Amino acid sequence: MKQSWKPGNLLNPTPVVMVSCAEAGKTPNIITLAWTGTVCSEPPMLSISVRKERFSHDIISRSGEFVVNLVPARLAKACDLCGVKSGRDLDKFAATGLHAVPVPHLKSAPAIAECPVNLECAVEKVLELGSHDMFLARILGVEVDEALLDEKGRLDLIKADLIAYSHGEYLRLGNKVGSFGYSVRKSR
Ligand SMILES: Cc1cc2nc3c(=O)[nH]c(=O)nc-3n(C[C@H](O)[C@H](O)[C@H](O)COP(=O)(O)O)c2cc1C
Repeated sequence: MKQSWKPGNLLNPTPVVMVSCAEAGKTPNIITLAWTGTVCSEPPMLSISVRKERFSHDIISRSGEFVVNLVPARLAKACDLCGVKSGRDLDKFAATGLHAVPVPHLKSAPAIAECPVNLECAVEKVLELGSHDMFLARILGVEVDEALLDEKGRLDLIKADLIAYSHGEYLRLGNKVGSFGYSVRKSR
């Protein structure tokens, strides 16, 4: 038996990311976001949905840029902190011990050095949806930790030990159950 519930957002699991942002010459900030998604391959684009009242909302609106930093399990606590404290009251880089580093394609938004993958994003459109504004952004560059590459230079993202977010909980990814196209592949 299933119950019929009122409409709500139960799309799970989602990625959970730390988004870093800054206005030129000002202290950089980090906001944790779960409402984020891949929206286009060519050009590469993603979305983040941010409430207007977030400190980061103004920073991203004014600077037009941000970095999406993927989160390994070892940074789960820092990620949570960046999602419960505001940059209005706290320097989250200092509080977490994370380091802001410049990225090649953006003017003011830094990456988080300790995150193994950083996506440099430039805002193209803002959609006012209701509770959240959706920033649609083009990915201008990707920084990848060399430790994640195999001997042939291919990305082995399992090595990054990334976390997901599901119904209020941070989870490590579990065991592999298949790979792209395996349902129709003849040999493994
Ligand atoms: C796991 C998690 C996911 C979150 N996802 C979002 C989100 O998608 N959009 C949003 O506006 N806030 C989200 N938040 C809340 C913000 O991260 C939080 O309000 C933060 O303190 C805002 O920081 P700021 O004021 O420095 O921008 C999330 C928080 C957590 C812990």
